[in-house]
Amino acid sequence: MQSEIRKTLLEVFSNANGEYISGQKLSERLGCSRTAVWKHIEGLRNEGYELEAVRKLGYRIISKPDKISSNEIQLGLKTSSLGRNIHFEETVTSTQKIAHHLAYEGAPEGTIVVAEEQTAGRGRLDRVWHSPKHTGVWMSIILRPNIPPYQAPQLTLLAAVGVVQGIQEATGLEADIKWPNDILLNNKKVVGILTELQAEADRINSVIIGIGINVNHTESHFPDFLKNIATSLAIQKGEGIDRARLIQCILVKIEKLYGEYLQHGFKIIKLLWESYAISIGQNIIARTLTGAIEGKALGITDEGVLQLKSLDGTIHHIHSADIEL
Ligand code: BTN
Repeated sequence: MQSEIRKTLLEVFSNANGEYISGQKLSERLGCSRTAVWKHIEGLRNEGYELEAVRKLGYRIISKPDKISSNEIQLGLKTSSLGRNIHFEETVTSTQKIAHHLAYEGAPEGTIVVAEEQTAGRGRLDRVWHSPKHTGVWMSIILRPNIPPYQAPQLTLLAAVGVVQGIQEATGLEADIKWPNDILLNNKKVVGILTELQAEADRINSVIIGIGINVNHTESHFPDFLKNIATSLAIQKGEGIDRARLIQCILVKIEKLYGEYLQHGFKIIKLLWESYAISIGQNIIARTLTGAIEGKALGITDEGVLQLKSLDGTIHHIHSADIEL
């Protein structure tokens, strides 16, 4: 209830475009007393909003916090399922862990888990994902597609396409995809995607898509071992990025692609993915758990598996690896 009123209050301020709104108008719009309005205004101030109060004129919003909240994400969000149900926390071990728990408990499709900080963010191949506070987007999305488990990697590629398109919409930056799911700007990693399943032998219960985006990091946010290989949207753009809007843009793109995928299959997603991929057609080294294979990346199969033609002409199907270009 409390958060519903705050959401309406933010909506009213956002529609006022920086103009003052009287306390009387706000109390009518929110259906509560003027004392209650004042309390909600104080609540927003505590969340980091800067609000000005002028006698006889009323209130106006001056600036929003450089923080994300459920309110910020949902205000103006143009999706019908993704992000309609948000589980937001300031600090978590990993949003994946929480999403797994929520999915197990029956959370609806489209539920997202977002945190300002992860203390044990997980990357692919059991790596740690560096997730400092108030800088990035650390988000897990719960989907419940009616597809067999072997098709689940397609959703990783779908998410990568959605993230590239969302970044382009929110920032104008044009990112590349390195198979299977690294998103790069100027050859440095800016996004990682980790897809995990809750499934039986022939049936998926849920797919948890974890998306980690380096957004407003400066160089000093990266530990030494990442400095040469990672970057952020803000470093590349040369200005800070509104993280809530970035999340909205990404959710809209992923929802659209997911709808097309469920209706028409993987074909169109595959074409889009290939149009953003930088490794296809190039000579690469794939470092798998069992060794390195050097050769030409031919493309991806309909299941999203990388096809690699090694120097002796053998075609390898690579399910999981690190790629060196
Ligand atoms: C990779 O290794 O490239 C994948 C990184 C995925 C990181 C994201 S951040 C949100 C979600 N929660 C996690 O613990 N990991 C994923």
